[in-house]
Formats: sequence, structure tokens, C-alpha cells
Amino acid sequence: MLQGKKILITAGPTYERIDPVRFIGNYSTGKMGFALAQVCADAGAEVLLVAGPVQQFIEHPHVKRIDVESAQQMFDVVMGHFPTCDGAILCAAVADFTPIVVANQKLKREKDNLVIELKPTQDIAAAVGKLKTEKQFLVGFALETNDEEAHALDKMRRKNLDFIVLNSLNDAQACFGYDTNKITILKASGDKKIFELKSKLDVAKDIINELANY
Ligand code: C5P
Repeated sequence: MLQGKKILITAGPTYERIDPVRFIGNYSTGKMGFALAQVCADAGAEVLLVAGPVQQFIEHPHVKRIDVESAQQMFDVVMGHFPTCDGAILCAAVADFTPIVVANQKLKREKDNLVIELKPTQDIAAAVGKLKTEKQFLVGFALETNDEEAHALDKMRRKNLDFIVLNSLNDAQACFGYDTNKITILKASGDKKIFELKSKLDVAKDIINELANY
């Protein structure tokens, strides 16, 4: 049961700054992560919600929200808080690359092509997976476009997750921006469960139900 458990949830995209007015981001809205926070808190958990830049709102006595912008900021907050949590659900669409140099003035239009050199960000899920003790759980997400299950299983093993929630960009009305999602849950134990297309709130309930029975 989740009553009294402290659960960390990441949600939304990260923004990686290029200059004072531009960033590299993605289409994540944070809807799935905020739905998970709502359902966990309704089930009696204490939720720490680490949110990237999103237009979502949540007010619940058992949800503490920390807003971040970049992958590095999200990494720092998550690594600082995970050791005192019972588990984490990492739902954020974290940028995989970030500019090596952030211009301190707005980049000007030039005739030539612009090249921005990027370096890989830290993988928060993999780092948390290394920290995880036997008493803690770790759930990740995988958004795939091809060979979905194979990629998701690979991520689950590499990042030491207990289970992974797979959604495919090939499913209509699932993923970014929609209020609905269609998921498959793959567990480290080998179990697999396929769910119907439903509202993100009902998808969150299915995920939390799996977690409560875990
Ligand atoms: O980006 P990728 O498909 O590998 O993401 C899979 C899982 O890892 C997701 O749960 C995502 O939140 C997490 N992740 C992360 N930090 C990253 C990249 C991904 O926590 N830098």
C-alpha cells in the first residue's frame, strides 16, 4: 500500500539553454507525471513532484512540488532527495543533450550555418538505479517509435528499474499532449501487461495499482 510512503515523481520536459532567449526542449506536457502525483497522493502517499517547465497545476496537501528547468537541475534535485524516498517514478522527458557553451548574449543571425555543440546529459534514471536499495522501487517510462518492447526491456535492465511503462508513438492519441495514453507495463520479473487506451488519470491509477501490488 502507498499510505505514508514517500514517492518522488519527475514530470515534464527539460529545457537546455542556448542563449538568454532560446532553448532546446521537447513536446512533453507533464500531464502523465501530474496525474501520477495526484493518484499517489490520493492513495495517501507523500509525493515530491520534480517538474520541468510545464503549464500544469496541482494543489494537494500531500504533494510538494519543486520546479526545475534543465536536466542538470533535475538531476541534482532527484539525487538529493531519492535516498530519503521509498521509491521513484521517473516520467520526465529529460533532454539527452545540452549545449556545451551557453551564449550570454542573444545569438545574432548570420549568413553561415550555425553549429551548436552538444554534450550528453546525465541519465537520472540510471544514476538513481545505482543508488537504489532493496527497500526502494524504481519505475521508468519508455517512449519508443520502433522495436518498442526490445528497447524498453533494454532500458529497464540498463537503468536497474523494477518496471517500465512503455508507450509507443505509433499508438493514436497516446503520448505527448493528449489527455489519453496507451501503455504496456513490463516488469523485471518478466511479467507483461497490456492496457487499453484511457485517460491519463486512469492510466496513472493502473500504474499505481501495479505498484501497490508489487
Ligand atoms: O530517454 P530514455 O528513453 O532513455 O528514458 C527512459 C527513462 O529514463 C524515463 O523514465 C526517463 O524519465 C528516464 N531518463 C532520465 N534521465 C535522462 C534520460 C531518461 O531519468 N537523462
